Amino acid sequence: MSYTRPPGRRFPREFLWGAATAAYQIEGAVAEDGRGPSIWDTFSRTAGKVANGDTGDVAADHYHRVPQDVALMGDLGLQAYRFSVAWPRIQATGSGPANPAGLAFYSDLVDRLLTAGIKPIVTLYHWDLPQTLQDAGGWAARDTAHRFADYAAIVAAALGDRVHLWTTFNEPWCSAHLGYGSGEHAPGTPDPARALASVHHLNLAHGLGARAVRGVLGDVAPISVTYNLQVHQAASASPADLAAKRKLDVIANEVFLGPVLEGAYPEEVFASTARFTDWSFIHDGDLADIHVPLDVLGLNYYNTSRVAARREPVVVDPRAPFVPTTAFGCEDVEWLEQPGPRTEMGWNIDSRGLTDLLLDLHRRFPDLPVMITENGAAFDDRVAPDGVVHDADRTAYLYDHLDAVGAAIDAGADVRGYMLWSLMDNFEWAWGYTRRFGIVRVDHDTQVRTVKDSGRWYRELIRSGRLPA
Ligand code: NOJ
Repeated sequence: MSYTRPPGRRFPREFLWGAATAAYQIEGAVAEDGRGPSIWDTFSRTAGKVANGDTGDVAADHYHRVPQDVALMGDLGLQAYRFSVAWPRIQATGSGPANPAGLAFYSDLVDRLLTAGIKPIVTLYHWDLPQTLQDAGGWAARDTAHRFADYAAIVAAALGDRVHLWTTFNEPWCSAHLGYGSGEHAPGTPDPARALASVHHLNLAHGLGARAVRGVLGDVAPISVTYNLQVHQAASASPADLAAKRKLDVIANEVFLGPVLEGAYPEEVFASTARFTDWSFIHDGDLADIHVPLDVLGLNYYNTSRVAARREPVVVDPRAPFVPTTAFGCEDVEWLEQPGPRTEMGWNIDSRGLTDLLLDLHRRFPDLPVMITENGAAFDDRVAPDGVVHDADRTAYLYDHLDAVGAAIDAGADVRGYMLWSLMDNFEWAWGYTRRFGIVRVDHDTQVRTVKDSGRWYRELIRSGRLPA
C-alpha cells in the first residue's frame, strides 16, 4: 500500500509512549539476593556462543541503579516502561516458594515508576528460564508450562493492580526457533522435534499463565503476549512464490497466532513437519486452555525478508542430518537478499512493512488492539568530542517507523502505544555488548548513562505528541 506523509503527524491523545528493556539484558547482579542461574547464564559462559565471551553478569548494572534509571525515564518524559521479571529471581530453581528479595526488587521498581507517573508494563518471560527447569527438559517438557503458571500467579499476587499491562511471553519464536532451531540462543541445541514441542508448550504456558494472572487479579487484569511476527514478502505473485511465503508464515507466525487467537493450529504445519514429529504433545483440552481472550497484542518489529520458491526441485532425504535452521520443513523455500539500507545488525530498514503488517492484523483481528512493544535500531554509535552520541541514523529509523505506525492508525488500525527498543544500551544476546540499541548510551566500563540525540528527539516527540514534518 502507499501513503503520503502528512505534515506534522499527530498521534491520538491517549497513545502511550514508552521504552523497553529486559531483565537479563540490563540487570546484572546474577548471583545476588537469591537469584538462581538461568539458561542465559549457562549459554553465555559456554565458549563460542556469545561475541567476545560477554555475559550478563554486570550488564547495565540496573539492579543497583533503579532510582537513577527511573529518574532518567522521568527526564525523558516516558509515560510507560516495559521491563521483564527474571523468573530465577522469583524462584531460583523455577518452582517452589517465592524468594521475597526477588519480589521486593520488582515491587520497589513498580512503586518508583508509579511515583514518577510511568505506567509499568510487565513481561513475565523474556528468555531467562531457570537452569533447573532446562535440566528437566526446558520448553520441550510439558511440565515447564505448569511451572510458568505457578510463577505467573506469584508475580501477579505481588505486583497486583499496580501493573498497567501484563505480557506473558516475549517473542516465543526466539525461544523455540533460535533456542532449538538454529541454536543461536539458549539452550542452543538444534533439534526440530524439541523446537516444535517447545512451540506448543510455550503456547500452553501462555494460556495457563494468562489464566493464572486472571485467577489472582480477576478478569479485569489486562493481558497481552508479544510476537515478533516475521514479515515474509513473496518475490512475485506466482502461486509457487506465494506458497513459499505461506509455508514460512505457518512455521514462524501461524503456529502462535492460530492457537492463541483462533484456537487451532494451521493444518498445513502437521504435514510440513511430519518427518520431525507427530505432534502427540498436544493433549485434549490444550487448545481450549491456550485460547484466552487477550486485551492487547504486542508486536515487536525490526525488518522484513524476501522469499521465493526454489527453482530447483528439492529432494529431502529423511535420513540426512538436520541442518540448524529456523525454517525446518521449508527446504523448498529460498531467502533472497533484501535491498538496503541496513542497521548494524545487518537487518534491512523497511518501515512500510510495519504499516502493512499492522493493517493485515487489523483486517484479520479487527477487535484486537495492538501495542508496539519493541522497535528500534542498532548503529555504530560514536561518542563525539562533546561527549554525546549524535545518532541521526537512529532518529531517522525511529521517525520512519513512527510515521509508518501513524499511517496504519490513519487507515484504521487500533494501535495503543509504542515502546521503543531500547531505553539504554544493553546485552544484545549472542552479540553481547557489540551492538547498541539504546537512546541512552551506557559506558560499559563506568556505567555512566548519557542521553543520545535520539533520546532528546524522543523526549520532544512525547511532549508534543506530534511527529515533526
Ligand atoms: C527483540 C528482543 O525481544 C530483544 O531482547 C532484543 O534485544 C531486540 N529484539 C533486538 O534484537
